[in-house]
Amino acid sequence: MTKPACLIGIDVGTSGVKVLALANDGQILATAIEEYPLYTPHPGWTEQDPQDWWQATVKALKHVLPACIDYKISGIGFSGQMHGMVALDDDDRVVRRAILWNDQRTEKQCQEITEKAGGLDKLLSFTNNQMLTGYTGGKILWLKQEEPDNYAKVRMIVNPKDYIRLKLTGIKATDVSDASGFGFFDVKNKCWHEDLIRASGLNPEIFPPVVESTDLTGEILPAAAEETGLPAGTPVSGGGGDAVISTTGLGLIKPGRVGVTLGTSGVVAMGLPEFMNNPEGSLQLFRGNSPGTFTAMGVTLAAAGSYHWFRNALGQHEVEKGHVQGKSAFYLLDQLAKETPSGADGLIYLPYLTGERCPLNDPSARGGFIGLTSHHTKGHFARAVLEGVAYSLRQVYDLIADGMSGTLEGSGEVVLAGGGAASPLWRQIFADLFQMPVRTVYGSAEGGSFGAALVAGVAVGVWPDLAATVPLIKPESETLPNPDNKDVYEKLYQKYVKMYGALKWSFED
Ligand code: XUL
Repeated sequence: MTKPACLIGIDVGTSGVKVLALANDGQILATAIEEYPLYTPHPGWTEQDPQDWWQATVKALKHVLPACIDYKISGIGFSGQMHGMVALDDDDRVVRRAILWNDQRTEKQCQEITEKAGGLDKLLSFTNNQMLTGYTGGKILWLKQEEPDNYAKVRMIVNPKDYIRLKLTGIKATDVSDASGFGFFDVKNKCWHEDLIRASGLNPEIFPPVVESTDLTGEILPAAAEETGLPAGTPVSGGGGDAVISTTGLGLIKPGRVGVTLGTSGVVAMGLPEFMNNPEGSLQLFRGNSPGTFTAMGVTLAAAGSYHWFRNALGQHEVEKGHVQGKSAFYLLDQLAKETPSGADGLIYLPYLTGERCPLNDPSARGGFIGLTSHHTKGHFARAVLEGVAYSLRQVYDLIADGMSGTLEGSGEVVLAGGGAASPLWRQIFADLFQMPVRTVYGSAEGGSFGAALVAGVAVGVWPDLAATVPLIKPESETLPNPDNKDVYEKLYQKYVKMYGALKWSFED
């Protein structure tokens, strides 16, 4: 009897790698997460070792593959933290640690590239995106200027998920959604903007070949099969950047409904069937996972990352208690937060822990708690963190709603995804602040790994296209807004929006 097909999605995230196995009827067979360290050699700098991604991927695959025993593994797909610079030498060795999406060291280089383009308007006409500090492009110029010996060794730059592709298949390539996040990609015409690359003093030859997310890029090599347990010869698909492919995994491939993904970063995004201009460059307008499609999004840098920071810095007691009780520290912090009223008795958290990208583009922005009184408890702090992240994402949503001139009106709901969507309290905070129902769908909490498996299925012909996967993404939970909380949140949100402007002077050196 022939075995039914299953797909493997590998999401190279910031806190860890997540591997997921998906059956061809849309059921998740197994998932596994393996964490790895994040290095911050200077404030505002973030780096990871690509070897750690690989070791963690091998381990996570070993946990997931036994669940596929009754299936034929038909395809592998990727999702990954976007914009990370993985610099490879002639022998495909990494030249230095990867510089990540939330690293802020490249303000000078981004300005320089914008000037070389002839100013922001010209840059937008070339790429449809600003050159933001998070993007890969400024990092490459930084490498050339600050570490010329390393730059001289570089044969090719790829993004984080593409490093795992290289290890599995020996092929160096990126996909259209991640290529968009270099800041040197002509998103409209789907090619590198070679003139801009040259004008910026960089070599176009070190930019990787670009494939569609649903294209195939090689197959599992025998050596990789031996190390991972994946069958040799299994086809591997292009995959996509996590912010884009998570939205695909929510079935949000058309305009109107937005997805909010609460990963380390927070992403408000929606799919677009055709190209859209990005006036002023306030959004990220990238290629989507179906050929010919696009995605509009805004990214706040520290979303679930804020709650992670809070747990690590101030939640040690909950971490220890969680070990004893077999519960997660986040669950215990949520319980403390739930004991405090909506609005945290006026305590407001600003989530700019690693600077900010959207709705405010300011690498120097810093986080904070404002409105503290002697009445506030740890639970208030935990609630303020959850609420502050929701305020930031509401501000991004408002920006997208403005930019879409009416497309979002009447959408009437928010689809929440990523690890943070597993928290009922956070879902309620979003519902109350947005005064809209918040829904989760099957696979919501899995982030990019679910979308990666769907895209892999399309690439190998399990499904004809991404539209055919949407019916598999069934509604899972619905959280209705509490109208009694409308006023308290609206008032605090309006205060929150003004805080950045009032404090901006203090963020400067
Ligand atoms: C997207 C972005 C983040 C990272 C996080 O533009 O910077 O969502 O991809 O993983």
